[in-house]
Amino acid sequence: MLNKLFWLVALIAVVGIALAEDPDPVSVSIGNIFEKVMRASGPPRSEIMRRPVFAKAHGCLIAKFEVQKDLPAEYRVGVFAKPEYWAWVRFANDGGYGTDKRPAARGMAVKVVGVEGKKILEGEEDALTQDFVMQNHPIFFNKNAEDFLAFVDSAVSGDPEKVKAYNEAHPETQKILDEMDLNFLADPLAGQYWTPTPYRLGEKAMKYMVKPCMDGDNFLRENLIRRMKNQEVCFGFWVQFQKDEKSAPIDDATVKWPEEGEGKFRRFGTLRIPTGQDVNDKAREELCEGLSFTGWHATKDLEPLGSINLARKYVYKRMADIRRRRNGASMKEPSEITPPTENKK
Ligand code: HEM
Repeated sequence: MLNKLFWLVALIAVVGIALAEDPDPVSVSIGNIFEKVMRASGPPRSEIMRRPVFAKAHGCLIAKFEVQKDLPAEYRVGVFAKPEYWAWVRFANDGGYGTDKRPAARGMAVKVVGVEGKKILEGEEDALTQDFVMQNHPIFFNKNAEDFLAFVDSAVSGDPEKVKAYNEAHPETQKILDEMDLNFLADPLAGQYWTPTPYRLGEKAMKYMVKPCMDGDNFLRENLIRRMKNQEVCFGFWVQFQKDEKSAPIDDATVKWPEEGEGKFRRFGTLRIPTGQDVNDKAREELCEGLSFTGWHATKDLEPLGSINLARKYVYKRMADIRRRRNGASMKEPSEITPPTENKK
């Protein structure tokens, strides 16, 4: 009986794998490099396996994600269909666990929980999450997935000739990395964060961005008052649409989309982070290390676009599955968030 059950389970698994889309060779090669990096790296005496990039978390906070009340009906799809949700927000550094004085990209990843509709990541169709993954720079240092593979391949090779050849063929990479290094950030809550890669929004292509709220004419004074009174932190959530393929290409993440006309950022929502949350809470840190943030936790209306995003589909899932299995963390998306009790002073 057990034997039969084994073969039945094996058959279902094989059919399931065959039916799932095969990842392309570029994604698989990037995944192979990332797996090596992830297995080899880790903070000193770490007992858990960390993410291969953006591993140094500063903290995980709960936020309320509110959709703009006057949003036109045509954009009320996917996560924008309901007025509000709770969300996890994870702030992290790329580039190792060392001092924060070392320049490197700062990340902000948001997981909105309670989003209805079938999700696009295979095996997670019933998940209730929509993720937004951002960094504190509007563009990425590689145009597309092939360039990214060539970049990481040369970076991990330890071969100065290979690195030289890559840099000569891709002068834009070092220039953008140098620009990114100039973005000093003293406070993760005061940063501006973008997605350099595009997403679908209904029939259009878009990029999103968050920045601290600048509402009203006196937000500078009001922000001082809020800080002194230890009140909630507020970020605006903004969306810009693709103007045209020439000025705002889908598959070149080194291009900053122009901000005129269709490209002008429009307010789509607000993230409100209540005060009184304990950043050092062990249970919260553990939960957050076990989360997987990926743009592919989305409904079809917000499908990730371009070859970099396609590679990320395979690589994020592969890495998250390996580290979560290894750490004994839940492999499932969260289905609810217990709201924090606000510390009103
Ligand atoms: C092909 C290109 C890329 C690859 C292969 C890649 C790979 C990864 C992987 C494997 C993780 C860890 C996922 C996990 O274990 O849960 C990750 C996290 C992250 N990536 Fe990327 N990434 C790419 C491009 C980008 C871009 C363009 C951005 C810009 C927004 C970005 C921002 C982040 C951030 C902020 C995190 C941390 C998410 C968190 O807090 O969990 N990545 N990336």
